[in-house]
Amino acid sequence: MLDESIQELAAGALQRIAMAGTAEELEAVRVEVLGRKGGALAEISKGMGKLSPDERKRIGAVLNQAKQEIETALDARKATFEAVALAAKLDSEWLDLTVPAPGPRRGHLHPITRIQRELEDLFVSLGFAVLDGPEVEDEYHNFDALNIPADHPARDMQDTFWLSGGNLLRTHTSPVQVRGMERLKLPLRMIAPGRVFRNESVDASHEHTFYQLEGMMIDRNVSVAHLLYFMKTLLTAVFQRDVTVRLRPGYFPFVEPGFELDIQCLICGGPGCPVCKQSGWVELLPCGLVNPHVLRQSGIDPDEFGGFAFGLGLTRLVMMRYSIDDIRQLQGGDLRFLEQF
Ligand code: DAH
Repeated sequence: MLDESIQELAAGALQRIAMAGTAEELEAVRVEVLGRKGGALAEISKGMGKLSPDERKRIGAVLNQAKQEIETALDARKATFEAVALAAKLDSEWLDLTVPAPGPRRGHLHPITRIQRELEDLFVSLGFAVLDGPEVEDEYHNFDALNIPADHPARDMQDTFWLSGGNLLRTHTSPVQVRGMERLKLPLRMIAPGRVFRNESVDASHEHTFYQLEGMMIDRNVSVAHLLYFMKTLLTAVFQRDVTVRLRPGYFPFVEPGFELDIQCLICGGPGCPVCKQSGWVELLPCGLVNPHVLRQSGIDPDEFGGFAFGLGLTRLVMMRYSIDDIRQLQGGDLRFLEQF
């Protein structure tokens, strides 16, 4: 009688174990059947005290065997579940250690730095010295020595960041001309690339910080023809082709005559297009023959020496070269933009 119910119980348990789909279902069977408190087999063994010693021994053996069978089945099923789980985990976490590593991410030079270095190389090959000047300038070098005295309306041409103590953030690279005239022996040829600052409201075509390259040559008998020759050489190198240029009068207190140099539009070649605003020409750089006042101010005799000077907007040049229509992108620090160059 007792044998039968034990065997039935075991058979039922083994069937449930075989059908279990999860580790939780297995655990439920274990608790229900083998649990020490309230488990079905434990309940049965409780009643064994009433049996005769012989019967107790026999039923005990049956009970033990049933218990062992169930335990074995539980362990085996549990092992299968674990193997499946492990296989899935290995599969999802698999790493191919033979794949080459991606390697360090390399940066590159900013497009403004690149054009600056190109122009430095070019001018060095033409016998020009490359000069550096301070970004925090004094009023004398930024204005007075360039023929822009304090009461001169030309001071308003450039919105200035004034610093306490009377210094300022240089508004152009022209003060380095003055430092060049003070320092170099004549005749002289120099360029001065660098950062300049204007107190401007920022928009697509205005930045408070941008880059210029100043150039100056002083010698005997320097004429507009020399200026044109060097400017054409410069522009041919930058744009990698012949460019047609023209001069228009332009006013800058430190040159006389002063010019705006235009190039024939590289997009349409002359007839007019949106880039040149239908004019066929694009304003590129201001320049001129050095004003005698400026020479004299730096101790150079204008009757013996003359020269030309020019101020190239490096930022603007980069924008033209790569058709960038918003100046803010250049110093914006967005790598997605910079990685294009
Ligand atoms: N310094 C001027 C500016 O930033 C540009 C300039 C004009 C420079 C004429 C020159 C020059 O050397 O000759 O507006």
